[in-house]
Amino acid sequence: MNYVRNAWYVAAWSHEIEQGRPFAITILDEPLVIYRGESGRLAALEDRCVHRMAPLSLGRCEGDRLRCMYHGLLFSPEGRVVEIPGQDQVPPNARVRAYRVAERHSWVWIWMGEAERADEALIPPAVGLDDPDYILGHGHLDYEAEARLINDNLLDFSHLSFVHANSFGAGPEFAETQARMTPLERGMRYERWIENTLGSSSRKSDEPMDNYMTYDFLIPGVLLMTGGIYPPGTAKGCDYGVPDGKPLGGVTFTSQAVTPLTAKTARYFFSWGPHRDHGDEAMRDALMQLAGVAFAEDKVMIEAQQKVIDRTPDPRVMPTAHDKGVTMFNRLVERLARAEAEGNRDAA
Ligand code: FES
Ligand SMILES: [Fe+2]
Repeated sequence: MNYVRNAWYVAAWSHEIEQGRPFAITILDEPLVIYRGESGRLAALEDRCVHRMAPLSLGRCEGDRLRCMYHGLLFSPEGRVVEIPGQDQVPPNARVRAYRVAERHSWVWIWMGEAERADEALIPPAVGLDDPDYILGHGHLDYEAEARLINDNLLDFSHLSFVHANSFGAGPEFAETQARMTPLERGMRYERWIENTLGSSSRKSDEPMDNYMTYDFLIPGVLLMTGGIYPPGTAKGCDYGVPDGKPLGGVTFTSQAVTPLTAKTARYFFSWGPHRDHGDEAMRDALMQLAGVAFAEDKVMIEAQQKVIDRTPDPRVMPTAHDKGVTMFNRLVERLARAEAEGNRDAA
């Protein structure tokens, strides 16, 4: 799979990892067990006992350690075997791989690359469910499709005019005109103004307004989007860039993360809701309902697309003008993945 490994992947919502209950997930084809020990500390280990390869996710938490419940080997949060029932000596190399794990913005993030390179400064600045400024709902969705296809979808919003014409009520603007795309060090930025609009299903106004939306799409596949409505003329006044003034309303925030599970499956995590000054719990619920419909529309299209790709002997794409963001991001992934592969070769 062509994905960057030296990156933080969302493995779960924080609340999904309950104290004392091992949680199993496969990321980049690697089966993992994540557990929260008695002290609250999170650990992530390879989900395969060194003894006879039973899954540690069927194990039992003991303090901050995890016991394989087949024949009882006890593992430390660092993956070392610290006890073998009925045997005095533990071989020094008795260990499973431990992954760096961090809890931030209501998500549990796992570093899938070399542990020494793990840098928490690279965790994308998502907005957590406990953020005081936003009232957020959340969810996740499993895909029978490769993560890359979901990333591609999130990098080309021209599909809004077609896939989401009814749900989001997106007009033809998304397909008929280009958004502004700027490369970032670990991703790309999308900015779009829609002038003199009454808005869409998620952001309505009574009089024509200028509607601004912007998102960053960051390695490994994290979308962070916000926007709002502004007085008419704002878009032109700032030359279709970042508005200086405060928005009149309609400010929401959505954090979304695409995690490759196996080569052909992925998990899509999302939260969405209004800024506290521009909405309430009822609005959050309305947005989540809308998201439920819209994300199901994406899933139908992308899973069907995956099937066609799978039965095509030599699948090739024909990029259009709207693929700028897709191309920009995929080139970045290729560049980083290649640098990792070369780094590993040099180190070998
Ligand atoms: S397989 Fe884990 S203790 Fe035997
Ligand atoms: Fe979509």
